[in-house]
Amino acid sequence: MNTAQAMDRMYRYQRYIYDFTRKYYLFGRDTLIQRMDLQPGQQVLEVGCGTGRNLYLLAKRHPQVQFFCLDASQAMLETAANKLKHKTNVRLQQGLAQEVYYRDHFQLQQAFDVVFFSYALSMIPSFRDALHRALDNLKPQGHLYIVDFYDQGGWPTWFRKLLQSWLARFGVQHDPALPAYLQALHEQGHGQLQIDSLGGRYAFIAHFRKSGEA
Ligand SMILES: C[S@@+](CC[C@H](N)C(=O)[O-])C[C@H]1O[C@@H](n2cnc3c(N)ncnc32)[C@H](O)[C@@H]1O
Repeated sequence: MNTAQAMDRMYRYQRYIYDFTRKYYLFGRDTLIQRMDLQPGQQVLEVGCGTGRNLYLLAKRHPQVQFFCLDASQAMLETAANKLKHKTNVRLQQGLAQEVYYRDHFQLQQAFDVVFFSYALSMIPSFRDALHRALDNLKPQGHLYIVDFYDQGGWPTWFRKLLQSWLARFGVQHDPALPAYLQALHEQGHGQLQIDSLGGRYAFIAHFRKSGEA
C-alpha cells in the first residue's frame, strides 16, 4: 500500500470527526496562524493540509494572500474542498510532501513565500526529504513554519509513554530528531531558526528563515 492509499484508509471515516477531536490535542495551531506575518499577494503552501482547517482560518484572515493546500489523501482533500468551497484564494492538490514541486503541482512560475507543516511532519517517516523539498519550494528569505509534537520533556514519563503509544495508533511517528535536524540546518547556514516550546515541551513551533538573496 502506498502513502496516499494508507492515508485514505486512515482518514476514510476519521475525517468526519477530525476537526472536533483534534482540537483537544493538536495544540499550537492557532498560535502559529496568529504568528504568521503574511503580506497581500504572497503565496503560501500548507503541506499535509488535511481537512483544510488551518487554511480556512488563514484565508479568512488574509483574503489578499493566495493559499495552496497539498495532501496525500484524496479523502481528506474532499473534506477540505467542501470546507473551502467559498474561499476563492485557496487551491487544493493531491500529492506527496517528498515530491511536491511548485511548477508541476501548482503551475506556478515562482517558489512560495511561506511553506508550513502543521502536525504533518510527524506522520511522514522520511521527514528529512519532506523538509528539504519544502526548502526547495521556498524563495530565498522565505519562511518555513512547523508546529508539531515535541518530546514532552516537561511531563511525567507515564504521560509521555501513554501519549506516544496512543498517537502511534493514528500513524504519528513522533521522531524526536526533528528539532535537532532543524538546528543542524541552521548551523550549516541554510537559514535562521527559532524554536519555541509550548506546554512543557508538549509541542513546538519552529520558524526557519531560508538563507539567500531575496
Ligand atoms: C495529522 S494531519 C494534520 C492536518 C492539518 N495540517 C491540521 O493541522 O489539522 C496530517 C495530514 O498529513 C497528510 N500526510 C501524511 N503523509 C503525507 C505525505 N507524505 N505527503 C503529504 N501529506 C501527507 C495526511 O493525509 C493528513 O491529512
